[in-house]
Amino acid sequence: MKIYANLKMNMDVDDIEVYIQSITKEAIIIPSHIYIERFKSFTLGSQDVSPFKKGSYTGDISAEQLKKANVKYCILGHSERRKYYNESNELLKEKLHRLSENGITPILCVGENENENLEKVIAKQLEIISNDNLIVAYEPVWAIGTGKIPSNEQIEKTVNYIKSIVNCDVLYGGSVDIDNIDMLKKVSNISGFLVGKASCDYKKLNAMVDSIRQN
Ligand code: PGA
Repeated sequence: MKIYANLKMNMDVDDIEVYIQSITKEAIIIPSHIYIERFKSFTLGSQDVSPFKKGSYTGDISAEQLKKANVKYCILGHSERRKYYNESNELLKEKLHRLSENGITPILCVGENENENLEKVIAKQLEIISNDNLIVAYEPVWAIGTGKIPSNEQIEKTVNYIKSIVNCDVLYGGSVDIDNIDMLKKVSNISGFLVGKASCDYKKLNAMVDSIRQN
């Protein structure tokens, strides 16, 4: 099991320096792009990638640039990007191609909103994949940043459903924290956690890594 720390758009440079000095090397760190170079001694992920290969795309970062910066993973289709940037399957498919051309492992986020048909939504979100070279993160939208989590049985069932469509590692994400990780790590078919808010606190990140090490 592994912890993937999605730092989102948090921490200024002073916070980052303290954080780097304090965290375990066992977690995969997914910082804002501006800090990637500072985390070069860690296993790195990116929060996003351009759908284009290179050229005049102001503000974008290419998969090739990420590869050269030693980035091993990239989050795709996070619900915040689907919501705030209207990321569509068509766009995500392009991003997925750019990552596979460069040997970066995509972490494709899937998950339902409250009152949505979970299997239908997830099947649609998984339509973009063409091979098994990825990680899927099951993140119910209603569980992200809310403190609410599904039961272990619900997670296990959904992860089995995902694995019936794609043969790859699956993570759970959504309000994972120090007070629920001991319970969540008992879900038998997950390979780790995509953690947002709690991973920005180095004490919590280290404690969560300790917890899964004792698995
Ligand atoms: P959270 O975020 O841990 O703050 O709920 C998870 C995520 O968005 O990946």
